[in-house]
Amino acid sequence: MSLPSTGLPAEQVLDELRALRTGDLPTHGGRTLAYVYDSGRAGLDELAAQAHALASATNGLDPTAFPSLLRMENDIVAAAAALLGGGQATVGSVTSGGTESCMLAVHAARAARPDVDRPKVVLASTAHAAFHKAAHYFGIEAVTVPVDPATFLADPAAMAAAIDDRTVLVVVSAPSYAHGVVDPVPEVAAAAGERGVRCHVDACIGGWVLPYFRALGEPVPDFDLSVPGVTSLSVDLHKYAYCPKGTSVLLHADASLRRSQFFASAAWPGYTMLNSTMQSTRSGGPLAAAWAVLNHLGDNGYRSLAQQVLSAVRTLRSGIGAIEGLRIQGDPQSTLLSVVADDSVADPGFDVFTVADEMTERGWYLQPQFGFESSPPNLHLTVTASNHGSEPALLADLASAVDAARRSGPVSLPEELTAAIAGLDPSGLTSEQFAGLLAMAGLEGAGTLKRMAEINAMLGAAPPGLRERLLVEFLGVMYTPTV
Ligand SMILES: Cc1ncc(COP(=O)(O)O)c(C=O)c1O
Repeated sequence: MSLPSTGLPAEQVLDELRALRTGDLPTHGGRTLAYVYDSGRAGLDELAAQAHALASATNGLDPTAFPSLLRMENDIVAAAAALLGGGQATVGSVTSGGTESCMLAVHAARAARPDVDRPKVVLASTAHAAFHKAAHYFGIEAVTVPVDPATFLADPAAMAAAIDDRTVLVVVSAPSYAHGVVDPVPEVAAAAGERGVRCHVDACIGGWVLPYFRALGEPVPDFDLSVPGVTSLSVDLHKYAYCPKGTSVLLHADASLRRSQFFASAAWPGYTMLNSTMQSTRSGGPLAAAWAVLNHLGDNGYRSLAQQVLSAVRTLRSGIGAIEGLRIQGDPQSTLLSVVADDSVADPGFDVFTVADEMTERGWYLQPQFGFESSPPNLHLTVTASNHGSEPALLADLASAVDAARRSGPVSLPEELTAAIAGLDPSGLTSEQFAGLLAMAGLEGAGTLKRMAEINAMLGAAPPGLRERLLVEFLGVMYTPTV
């Protein structure tokens, strides 16, 4: 595409956009069980869009020029701190999302310890990949500590043993994305605290729903800033606070812990560059939308949304457990489910990634997760309030998807393909070798993939280092404009 020489009428442009959007996964209605968070509340999107429009042209780069942004950010941080065990001293920042919050927590911890040579961050192996991204970007060593193979919970003794003089941060999750379990935060935070090391709780996905589960009487383990030794916590507003994409909060137990997160530069002749987060120019749109949604829903609104999602997750959990050949992994305490083929059956006779494809055909998106340590290939479900009421439909389709997957049998890769994968060196993989693999797998091109089970089986057969290389190659193919 090149720009039209004469601009198109607004309505025509919007029609084109609407047409493009019909190829996307649905963002509302509970049929997409990853990536999107739908409250199901009428009018909430419209409110957020109006608030976004009111502030989208403002610039958080200079909060003295746009004091409304400063006020809204302080309001949001105060609300997050109150919800998540913060005290009088708690401070924070609103960021663009979970990954930015996690990366900033790592950056702040690392920048506070200029005395440490070759710094390390100690992670439970289930910690979100955002921490590996931080380690990669900032030149920090990520030390991953295997979790308990049956419960998928961080192992406090092993985490404590992994802390050494080079450790600048220890990370636990509440809950972990892959299995939805809340790590033993008090034990790990105490071990970090004893060594004078910071401890970050990644509550990006659970932070805005677990406190409400607790208020509803659910047994939620202690995980927030009230736990001794916890120095920072991240919570995304664009997840269970049901705000539009583009907002997360990073809280620090006190201002001295946050100082190293900030960046100022006087080393150039332009305006004073003074940033609290990674962005510099920062639209006030997402912040204003989040502020509006939080104030509109209020504590009561979140409590009733938590009640709906709790009911949905309970029904889905027991219903999935009752489908022959499926099992829920671990003991999830939040809103996330990980579904595996039941290994108590000697040969379940199907592949869970085929079940995902069958569900796609039935209008549901379940997210494939590859095997990792003791966790076999499985399907992830992010359950939201909008799943309440349609649980029977999802369960009926899942049962029929399993039947269909059984009929097609497990995916088997051509022998030449498995041999080719085994012989590949990730560091030297070329675009031609990648195209050859796709051809061998019978896949014409990255843009034409409908059924993903084969490509997932191919990726699953590749060791993680090679899988990363293959995925990067795939990304390059996808992000190539057709001229
Ligand atoms: C526990 C956890 N941390 C971090 C992130 C990253 O958040 P984002 O996708 O907003 O960057 C996620 C996303 O699902 C998450 O579940």
